[in-house]
Amino acid sequence: MLWKRFLPDLVAMVVALAACPVLLRLLPGRVFRALILGGAALFTAAFVVTLLQAAGLDAAFRWLMLSGVAFGWSLIVIFTTGMGLASRRVIPQRRQLLTTAAMAAPAAVFGYGVFIGRRQFTLKEVDLAIPDLAADLDGLRIAQISDIHLSPFLSRADLQWCVAMANETRPQLAAVTGDLITGIRDSIDDCLEELRHIRADAGVFGCNGNHERYIRAEAYTADRAARLGMNFLRARQTTLQFGSAKVNLAGIDHEDNRWNYAADTKGLMRSGEFNLLLNHNPDMFPHIAKQGWDLALSGHMHGGQINLELANANFNVAKFSTPYVYGTYREGRSAIYVTRGIGTIGMPVRIGAPPEVALIRLRRGPSTPALQAL
Ligand SMILES: [Fe+2]
Repeated sequence: MLWKRFLPDLVAMVVALAACPVLLRLLPGRVFRALILGGAALFTAAFVVTLLQAAGLDAAFRWLMLSGVAFGWSLIVIFTTGMGLASRRVIPQRRQLLTTAAMAAPAAVFGYGVFIGRRQFTLKEVDLAIPDLAADLDGLRIAQISDIHLSPFLSRADLQWCVAMANETRPQLAAVTGDLITGIRDSIDDCLEELRHIRADAGVFGCNGNHERYIRAEAYTADRAARLGMNFLRARQTTLQFGSAKVNLAGIDHEDNRWNYAADTKGLMRSGEFNLLLNHNPDMFPHIAKQGWDLALSGHMHGGQINLELANANFNVAKFSTPYVYGTYREGRSAIYVTRGIGTIGMPVRIGAPPEVALIRLRRGPSTPALQAL
């Protein structure tokens, strides 16, 4: 399965290396030659090192950043070459200054994504119509923070900002849907210390993501969270009372065995209650819907981190690995909200997929088609 994780990176790297000779012709001069050839050598080496280290999962996530940076370089080369070729057609005389300016655009966009887009935290308000919702749950506000990835690329100050955003919504319930950190060197304790400041009437609940699993910290996270007054649910449920209505809130650890998704989840459901599941991986949704859960809250894909709309076409790498990239999806009477989360992995960049704190408001009413599907 390892090759699948690195497949987009590998394809991008091969295309970028193939584009380098074209780029050398488009950008003559010793400086560009050194930059292009030096970059090719450096980033190819970074990618190969990542693949070699990826033999062990723990090691892989220490080196994943290298692969992400190499992937970013590949995309810049591909887009720069494309812009150069396009500008040659548009500017027949091929004035070097204009061509170079056009080719600088992809690097500028990536720079924006790294230094600005990555930290443009937004509040995403979602009204979710649920058929036959109990009257006392009409208007219930759920704040969701996910995919924090507290690391050198998401600071405690960033997380404090997001917690404050969540608190401003005065949520009745708060959900943290996994990936508190990225790797073994990142501090789960620091992340939980910030999350404990979320204020929600019914409390703060959570589930583990794949990164807690990669560093084998699922039990530690749940235990530590409990000491701080939060409740990370590991194949457990609890019943919450809102007026005369009951919410059966359940949570599970990250699952990625697609042949056996949600095997133990049905036992967590409660009849006569609003069944709400916290699960990191949205790919489980068809199985969850079949079991009859009313709503699931997920994250995992970060909205693809780079989401480009070009000439009515949508470019989003995450679409190659899941149909559930971002937004609300429905199947029968079940719904899932997949948040973009607030952090990044691989490339520390966000373009067209801003980090978000989500506020989900339940509404009584007929379900509408999915708000959007990437
Ligand atoms: Fe994540």
